[in-house]
Order: sequence, then structure tokens, then C-alpha cells
Amino acid sequence: MTDRFDSGVAHPARRYNYWLGGKDNFAADRESGDLLAKAYPAARIAARANRAFLRRAVHHLAADAGIRQFLDIGTGLPTADNTHEVAQRVAPAARIVYVDNDPMVMAHARALLTSTPTGETRYVEQDLRNPEKILAEASILDLARPVGLILVAVVHFLPSQEQARQIVHTLLDALPSGSRLVMSCATTEFLTPELRANWDESLRTGRSDVHPRTRAEFEEFFAGLEIVDPGVVAVSEWRPSSAENEERATPVEASIFGAVGVK
Ligand SMILES: C[S@@+](CC[C@H](N)C(=O)[O-])C[C@H]1O[C@@H](n2cnc3c(N)ncnc32)[C@H](O)[C@@H]1O
Repeated sequence: MTDRFDSGVAHPARRYNYWLGGKDNFAADRESGDLLAKAYPAARIAARANRAFLRRAVHHLAADAGIRQFLDIGTGLPTADNTHEVAQRVAPAARIVYVDNDPMVMAHARALLTSTPTGETRYVEQDLRNPEKILAEASILDLARPVGLILVAVVHFLPSQEQARQIVHTLLDALPSGSRLVMSCATTEFLTPELRANWDESLRTGRSDVHPRTRAEFEEFFAGLEIVDPGVVAVSEWRPSSAENEERATPVEASIFGAVGVK
């Protein structure tokens, strides 16, 4: 771990780990998680629904779209069904590059690097705000062949929509046609006015770092792509699987948009 590691400051990866029921978090993360859950009581349910969306979307890319390369930015701490596990169950030769800016994810990177012998996984510690560096460091990916770009529950940590839009387009511009964008992002559009006001207040007072997007803003990320069925929906409504033994979150509980687009 580096000197940038500070267990006294809450960080999204560890707070999300707390909501998912993991053990890789500290008091500051739990405190921040509980504070956010006051403004948005379904936070834990939303975290699980988002993770399930990631699993279903990666499976779709590998099983239905023949995608064999993945660039997963905002990886999170390793948990069940990491992207390479889902993809390599379908396609053992799949290659995955994980990217995160939390040094604690780096400390757990070994758990992200348990590739099949024919596939490959890499971990890059980098910030989403440096898309060119990410592309340069993702050297195991062949950018002449389609890539699944995974930006799941990460773009909402960028306050500026314009900056986020540019980053997503820089990444997509480097990928060939046939590539996929899998994206999820918090939204307050499904919430009651009262819950929405709570969320806004949390942002204003610095208790939250999750910047929700409107549907129109979320759709901007998919400009020039063809969005596959069922379109832009709450993550829990994106091709829900009856096989998954989980209660389906309502859109209000999930409060995260999810979609998959084809370049
Ligand atoms: C809520 S978790 C999502 C994890 C995983 N994508 C999932 O959906 O299960 C968000 C992750 O994004 C990472 N993150 C936040 N801002 C980032 C940035 N600017 N650059 C890279 N990673 C970032 C956090 O460290 C955290 O691991």
C-alpha cells in the first residue's frame, strides 16, 4: 500500500464493500455508508442490484455478443463474480484489464488476477480521469478487436457531466466497432421529491460524493451507439434473471440507471 492510503477517510470502494456485506472496510467507510443510507435508505439493496447488473451484462457480452476482451474501470474490491470470473466461465481465453484508483483495490489485486491459463487478467492503478493513460496501460488488449468497456457505478463519482462525457467518448473512440459499453450510474429520477431533496442536501453538505444523472445525461454517454433491449432502465430491470435467487429491487430502491450499447 502507498502513503496515499488513509483508512480514516471514507472511500467509495470500501463503502460499497460495506453495503455488499464485505469485510474490507474501515470505521470511516461504515460511518459514511450509514450517513448516505439515511438520505437514501435503499443504498444496500441498490449496491446488490448494481452488482447483479454487472454480472448479467458481462455474461451477455461474453455469451451473446462474443466479446473476448474487457476493460473494467472502477473495478471495486474483489467480491463474488468479478468480471473475469463471469467472462471466463463463458470464454476461458477472455482477457480482462481492471482499473481502479483506490490503493486498497491494488492490495487485493492478486484476487483479481486468478485468470484461466488460456486467458489473461491485468490490474492497473489509474484514475478514470486519465483515459489516455488507461488505454496506454491496457496493453494486453488488442484495440483492433471489439472490447467490452465496463463503467459500472463509477461515472457518478465525477461531478462534471461534461468531463465525464468527454472521458467516455475518448475511451470509446479508441475502440473498434462491435465494442460494447456497459454502464450504470446513480439517478434520483425514480425517487420521491423528499428523497431527492435529501440526496441533494447530502451532496451540498459534502456527506455524499455520488452525483446523480438525469436520463438525458445518462443517454449522452451512449451517443452514436445502439442501445440494446431493454434500453435505459433501472439496473434491476435490465434483463432480470429468474435463475438468480435474489429479490428484485424496485426502480426506486435501485435508483441506478443501467444500459448496454453497441458501437
Ligand atoms: C461503487 S464501486 C463499483 C465497483 C464495481 N464496478 C461494481 O459495480 O460492482 C466504485 C469503484 O470506482 C472506483 N473509483 C471511483 N472514482 C474513480 C476514479 N476517478 N478512477 C478510478 N476508479 C474510481 C472506486 O475506487 C470503487 O472501487
